[in-house]
Formats: sequence, structure tokens, C-alpha cells
Amino acid sequence: MKGVVLAGGTGTRLHPLTKIFNKHLLPVGQYPMIHYAIQKLHDAGITDILLITNKQSWGLFAEYLRDGEEWGVKITYKIQDKAGGIAQALGLAEGFIHPNEKFVLILGDNLFQDSLKPCIEQFQMQEQGAMVLLKEVNDSRRYGVPILEGTIITAIEEKPEHPSCSYAVTGIYLFDYTVFEIIKTQKPSKRGELEITDVNNVYAAAGILKHQFLTGWWIDAGTHESLFQATLFLRQEDEECR
Ligand code: G1P
Repeated sequence: MKGVVLAGGTGTRLHPLTKIFNKHLLPVGQYPMIHYAIQKLHDAGITDILLITNKQSWGLFAEYLRDGEEWGVKITYKIQDKAGGIAQALGLAEGFIHPNEKFVLILGDNLFQDSLKPCIEQFQMQEQGAMVLLKEVNDSRRYGVPILEGTIITAIEEKPEHPSCSYAVTGIYLFDYTVFEIIKTQKPSKRGELEITDVNNVYAAAGILKHQFLTGWWIDAGTHESLFQATLFLRQEDEECR
């Protein structure tokens, strides 16, 4: 299986830190944020990775990650010319993934404790469709929120005012190749972006959106507060390892 990491975006919620600097290069613990997604993929046995970012920052990513050899992975770079949303960026991975191939997508600002291995193994056995990873959070209104009927996700609501449950859909997704066909049918949302939630809802409507739960800590490090929290979690992990 291959991996795709998204590391573009404008990072407005992290201004002024991100006014001149890509969010995914900000320091979290001992490393730039992007380090963790690459490490997690490597640890789960995924060594062929596509990194999608914007043209202003890709040189800096390449300076840090190079071809990935230091991490035991192979990194390919692709540039997203305009900020058109997560699904638009993911569409750029089409040539990298082969038909009939499955892959993992990580939003580079998602930092987490769990190993991806069990989910990947589960997804390998899934005949078709997609899988999202859910995590219980204090305020799910900030995220995509699943509508769960028993163990089935019937739909996902993006940042709902009145969430149906306290689970967030994390920025870790497993897709089959049909995702690229689905993306082509999508229209921009009110904020002018192709939304990953709309893509997932196509799978949900077809009854082929599966899920797993993360049990360790998980952070979308897109705000000053969550970036600080991520640093604390990683520091704690470091201390426990010593
Ligand atoms: C995106 C997704 C959202 C998901 C979140 C996880 O939101 O649209 O469904 O819950 O990532 O990090 P964003 O953080 O881009 O607003």
C-alpha cells in the first residue's frame, strides 16, 4: 500500500506563525510537524509516499526530507498550484496510485499516538470502499462528525452546529482507487473548496464507508492551542521512552 500526505493549505488559524511559513514545517516537539506523518507511515510498513504541498514551500520540505532515505522511505513530491481543498489536492495523487491499488491519506497536521498497522490490515481485507478513523473529542463541532447507525456510518456532517455524537472524523483516511472518480464528480462547497467529507459521503451512501476508532491521543494541530497540546503529548511520550 502507498501513502499520501497533504501539507499545503494556508494555515490561517495559526497566523501570524504561518504568515511566511508552512504550518507543516512548524516545530512540534523535536521535529518539524511533517516528520510525524512520514514516521507513522514508515512504522506501519508504508514506504512509498507522495507529499503534496504548495510551490512556495516544497523546496523546504525537500531540504528536510530529501528522497526519504533517512526515514527508510521513498518520497515523491507534487505541487498543488491553487488552494482548492483537501479533495482537490488528493486528486493530484491519481498518477501516483495505480488502478486497483489502495492507499492511506494523512492530513499532515494530524498528530496521533496509535499505530496505523491494525487499520491498514483491516482495510486490506475490505473488498472495496473507504475507511475513516474516529476519535472521541470534547467538542466535535470543529470537525467532520459521523452519523452512526449501529456500527454503520450513514453520512458525515462537516463542522455541524449540533453534532450527532462526540466523535471526530480524523484526517487519516484509507481509500480505494475509485476515490479519484468520485473526486471528479464533486462540486466546490460554499467556501469554494472540494471537500473530503463530500467524497466520503459518496462512499457512505453506497454503504462502503467503514471505520475504526483511535484509542490513543489525537490532535489536529491547526490552532495555537492544539499545536501547544501536541507538543505536550509528544514530550510526554519522549519522557516515557527514556
Ligand atoms: C478537515 C476535514 C474534517 C476533519 C479534520 C481532521 O478539516 O474537513 O472533516 O475532521 O480535517 O483534522 P480542517 O481541519 O481542514 O478544517
